[in-house]
Amino acid sequence: MILIVDDDVAVRTSLLFLLKHEGFTAVAVSNTKEAIQQINKTQPELVLLDMNFSLETSGEDGLRFLKRIKKISREIVVILISGWGTVPLAVEGIKLGAYDFVTKPWDNKMLINSVKTSIGNNNIHKSHKLKTASRKELNQKYNFGNIIGEDPEFLSILETIGNISQTDASVLILGESGTGKEMIAEAIHENSLRAKKPFVKVNMAGIPDSLFESEMFGHKKGAFTDAKMDRVGRFEYANTGTIFLDEMGDLSSSSQVKMLRVLQDKKYELVGDSRTRQTDVRVVCATNRDLEDMVANNLFREDLFYRLNLITIYLPPLRDRSTDIPLLAVNFLEKIKKLYQFNDLSITGDALDWLSNLKFNGNIRELKNLVERTALIYRKGELEIIHFKNQMQKHIVKAIDGELPTPGCMSLDEIEKAMIIKTIKHYDKNLSKVANALGLSRGALYRRLDKYNITISGLSQFK
Ligand SMILES: Nc1ncnc2c1ncn2[C@@H]1O[C@H](COP(=O)(O)OP(=O)(O)OP(=O)(O)O)[C@@H](O)[C@H]1O
Ligand SMILES: [Mg+2]
Repeated sequence: MILIVDDDVAVRTSLLFLLKHEGFTAVAVSNTKEAIQQINKTQPELVLLDMNFSLETSGEDGLRFLKRIKKISREIVVILISGWGTVPLAVEGIKLGAYDFVTKPWDNKMLINSVKTSIGNNNIHKSHKLKTASRKELNQKYNFGNIIGEDPEFLSILETIGNISQTDASVLILGESGTGKEMIAEAIHENSLRAKKPFVKVNMAGIPDSLFESEMFGHKKGAFTDAKMDRVGRFEYANTGTIFLDEMGDLSSSSQVKMLRVLQDKKYELVGDSRTRQTDVRVVCATNRDLEDMVANNLFREDLFYRLNLITIYLPPLRDRSTDIPLLAVNFLEKIKKLYQFNDLSITGDALDWLSNLKFNGNIRELKNLVERTALIYRKGELEIIHFKNQMQKHIVKAIDGELPTPGCMSLDEIEKAMIIKTIKHYDKNLSKVANALGLSRGALYRRLDKYNITISGLSQFK
C-alpha cells in the first residue's frame, strides 16, 4: 500500500488517480497526524511525502516527519516530493534515509518508475538478509558470462547485481582500478530488461569540457564553427538502453551541473537547437575515486552524488578476495590455451599458492596480464613460481628502461621524481591511478608530491 501525504487536494487527487491507474493500492491524507494513524494501522510499503505540506515551514517539517517515519520503521520507503526551492533539503532527506525525491511539477513516468524501483529494491533488501546464493544458483538465474569469482563477499555482490539489474535504479560502481567495474556494468545491462537495447559506454575523463554538451547531447550542423554536420549525442544513442558513465569522478564542475540536469529531469537540448528532448536511459556509472571524499572537499556536487548512488556497489581489491586468485589464474590460462592451442600447459599448485599471496595493486587486470604474458612466453609444460617471477621482473626492468642515470648527474630521488611526473602525465593527473600504478597509497603519493614540490594545481607543466 502507498500512502500519500500532501495538504494540497489537487496533488492528492492526481497522485491517487495515477497510482491506482498503475495498479497500486493507495491512500491519501492531508496532515501528519492522519499519516501516523495510517502508518500504524496499515504499515504502508511506501510513503510519498510532500516536503512542503506545511506552507509556512518551507520543507523543514517534511524532514522532521521523514525522521519520525524512519523511527517507526526503517523498512518503509519514503519518496519526497519537493518544490524547486527545496532541492537542497530533499538531498538532506536522502541522507536521512529517503529513497528518492521528485520535483514538482513531476513527470508521471519518472514518478512511477521511482515508485516501482523503490518497492522492488526494498523487497530485495528484505530477502537479501536471508541467505546468499551459491555460484551455481546464480548462474542458473542470471547471465554472468565471463565473470569469475566464488569468494562469499563477491557472490553476495553478484546476487545484488542480479537483483537490481531488472530495476531502472541508477547504479554507482566503486573500486580500485582493475577490479572489474566495467565488466560488472556490462553484466547489469545484460541481465536487465534493456539487454537487447543499446549499451553505450562513455569515458568521462576523455571528454574536454568545451565538448561535453556536443558529445553527450549532440549538435546541429552549424551550431559552432567545427559543427560541419548534425551529430547524435551519447544520450540519444543510449535511448531505451543503458548509458555507462565511466570515470565519473573525473567530471569537471561545469560538466557536473549539466549532467545533473539530464539525470534529474531526463531532458536535454542539442547544441544549436532549442527543442527539449526526452531520454529514457538507465544510468550506470563507475569511478576509482573516493566520491564521498570529493563531495566533502567540494570537488564533486553533493546533489549529483545522491542522484548517482541509489544503489552503490563496491568491488573489493583482489588482495581482499585472494581465495579467488587460483580460480582466476586457471581461467585466464584456459582462455589463452584455447586461443593459441597450447594444449600442454598448466600451472603448478605451488605457483598458484605463490600467486595467491601477491598484492596485485593493479588487481584482476594485473593478474590477467601476468598469466597471459607468462603463458605466451613459455607455451608448454608446467608454469612454476620462477616463470612468473621472471615475467614480473622483466616487466619492471622494461618500465624504467631507457633512462639509465649518467653518473653524478641523476640521483635516485630525481629518478623517482621523473617517474612520478611521467606517471602523472600518463594517467592524465588521475592521482588514484597514479598511486595505484606506483604501488603507493594516496597518502604516500601526496607525501612524495610534497617532497619533490610537484604541485597539482599548477599542473599545466604536465600538459
Ligand atoms: N571477475 C572477473 N572475472 C574475470 N575477469 C575479470 C573479472 N574482473 C575483471 N576482469 C578482467 O580484468 C580486466 C579489468 O577489468 P575492468 O576493465 O572491468 O576493470 P575496471 O575496474 O573498470 O578498471 P579501471 O578502473 O582501470 O577502468 C579486464 O580484462 C576484465 O576482463
Ligand atoms: Mg574501467
